[in-house]
Amino acid sequence: MTPTWVQLTYLACAVSFILALKGLSGPKTARIGNIIGAVAAVVAVAVPFFYLELDHVVLILVAIALGTAGGVIGAQRVQMTQMPQMVALFNGVGGGAAALVALLELHELIPLTELDGAVSWFTLAATAFTVAVGSISFAGSVVTFAKLQELMTSRPVVFPGLPIVFGLALVATIGLSVKTVTGPMIWVGVVLALLGLLIGLLLVLPVGGADVPIVISLLNAFTGLTVAAGGYVLDNVVLLVAGTLVGASGTFLTMLMANAMGRSVANILFGALKGGSTLGAGVASDRPVKSAGPEDVAILLGYADRVIIVPGYGLAVAQAQHTLRELVEVLIARGTKVDYAIHPVAGRMPGHMNVLLAEAQVPYEQLVEMDEINSEFKHTDVVLVVGANDVVNPAAKTTPGAPIYGMPILNADEAQQVVFMKRSMRPGFAGIENELLFDPRTTLLFGDAKDSLGKLLNAVKAL
Ligand code: TAP
Repeated sequence: MTPTWVQLTYLACAVSFILALKGLSGPKTARIGNIIGAVAAVVAVAVPFFYLELDHVVLILVAIALGTAGGVIGAQRVQMTQMPQMVALFNGVGGGAAALVALLELHELIPLTELDGAVSWFTLAATAFTVAVGSISFAGSVVTFAKLQELMTSRPVVFPGLPIVFGLALVATIGLSVKTVTGPMIWVGVVLALLGLLIGLLLVLPVGGADVPIVISLLNAFTGLTVAAGGYVLDNVVLLVAGTLVGASGTFLTMLMANAMGRSVANILFGALKGGSTLGAGVASDRPVKSAGPEDVAILLGYADRVIIVPGYGLAVAQAQHTLRELVEVLIARGTKVDYAIHPVAGRMPGHMNVLLAEAQVPYEQLVEMDEINSEFKHTDVVLVVGANDVVNPAAKTTPGAPIYGMPILNADEAQQVVFMKRSMRPGFAGIENELLFDPRTTLLFGDAKDSLGKLLNAVKAL
């Protein structure tokens, strides 16, 4: 019987996790939300040391120390642009750990199944689920990490017969899960784990690089459900609640990202199996464009009444967010109305632009979400697109068959003037040409965003 103080502490941890998620849903409260969640996690991990008679305490402490060191060093060293891979890795080890714990638990449960009614069928089913789905999450996350870290090609990897192997592995997994419920054996559990690894591999290999962050979020949901099932098997309420929260939030995030890209989750996962790539060819265009220097763009901006900034992935690459904030401050001081238009999938991870601009102390009120700002572009004198491309590409509206067709975009094409800051004529992540670059109202300011913004800032100050 779990002592009352433990149950109450776990309840407090569960409530804290919910408060943490609530806090993380807004930029002003995200930091405190993060702290609440982290403290609750530490408390939840510490509690068993005070009421259970644990074996191998030293080994457990060494494992905790190693995990903590890896987490702290990894989090301190990671670049903002590498955040998705770090999330993938952390998520993967979570799923893998849950699968290993479930295998050990299966080993303990098997002798008890001899006793009548000692182990329910549901417990055995939850164990099989944890082993299989935790392994899927682990293998899938490792592949997403390798793709994003460019340890392997980020293009979809497909081979003839992949759907058949995938289907057979799935059927075998279901069969062995049923076997785990009706007559559990440890070798069945081990094969279940191996099949899970195979399914995870086959699930993620065909996904193209641009879609990988969505799959990370889906695998995150898988890990959450695995941990919840593990919590049921181990009779641990706090694991059950935390896992369910991760599972639910991962599922929501996956659906929100897929919607923001105008795609279905099935298309993201299995699109490449139907043939072709989910990305364009990615070649630089040699069509003529109108380009200008920082002084000309400064005049455009300096005498505009209404300016909208569209930040994108290139802003993060150039680490130009501080210079951009300074430029906006100078424009506002000159009497221009300026906002940042935030596309939900600008950059390479959810909330990428919000985090980047918050880091540069841009006031939250200046960040306006796509749905709110889209009607304002037609009343805008100049749109300054800083390191963004796909999120303003009209092909999303006009070109059926384009990888981004159906994705809602920022209506930059409706403004009086558009200025693109980029280094070359290479396309964005989707790998396709952007017709807006060739529009007569568009001017290109070539160069690294940080360098160009610095020059632009000086030129506006000199007006
Ligand atoms: P992209 O379409 O990838 O365009 C980035 C632009 O930045 C390119 O035009 C690139 O051109 C420019 N750039 C790169 N480095 C630069 C630098 N140092 N200085 C100046 N410019 C630089 O970015 P986006 O508009 O933000 O769109 C995001 C894309 O990622 C979408 O396709 C989206 O679906 C996908 N995606 C997003 C997410 C999330 S959750 N955010 C997840 C998965 C996929 P040059 O190379 O010529 O400089």
